[in-house]
Amino acid sequence: MEQNTNEGWNPQENVPPLQRNIILTGYMGAGKSTVGRLLAGMLERKFIETDEMIATAAGLEIPEIFAQYGETSFRDRESAVLGELEALPQGSSVISTGGGAVLRPENVAALRRSGVIIFLEVGPAELYRRLKNTVDRPLLQDGCMMVKITSLLEKRRRAYLDCDYLVRTEGKTPVEIAGEILEMLEKRRE
Ligand code: S3P
Repeated sequence: MEQNTNEGWNPQENVPPLQRNIILTGYMGAGKSTVGRLLAGMLERKFIETDEMIATAAGLEIPEIFAQYGETSFRDRESAVLGELEALPQGSSVISTGGGAVLRPENVAALRRSGVIIFLEVGPAELYRRLKNTVDRPLLQDGCMMVKITSLLEKRRRAYLDCDYLVRTEGKTPVEIAGEILEMLEKRRE
């Protein structure tokens, strides 16, 4: 794991990172939910999935929101939910975001105010391996999945890199990744 040097550590608050909320970002299939759940268990915090918040508010599953209302409506709902995270007390939660949560700069600004942003990085070949049988990701249905993964990843790369920390996850188990994140945040306690 390394601290992102593009943006640097978020100086917005002088709260040590481990005492802030932990926000996981990254592509579909990056392991945000699995790692997030583990981290929440280790830290005895609440685990929150923004996709679940969106689905609950709509009374619909994510693919149904895409099918009935389209992607822009989904993104608006996503922005609204991300804006709500700020109300969570710092240090109370681990949050797993949807893969496109960082696409709007205002979303990233909201996430920054809500906690420390950790990008889980995975390369396209590994993502393809994990996602090739997925049926619940509307953006990856129809057409050649490898092409879709690669082109979306490329388009999003810069947005994902606008994080506080980047974790390379390939070849590591979810437990190892969660442990690495804790160690990293612990080290930067001052
Ligand atoms: C999306 C990722 C999905 C979900 C929606 C859109 C994206 O979440 O929010 O299908 O744009 O990458 P996961 O990253 O949890 O699959």
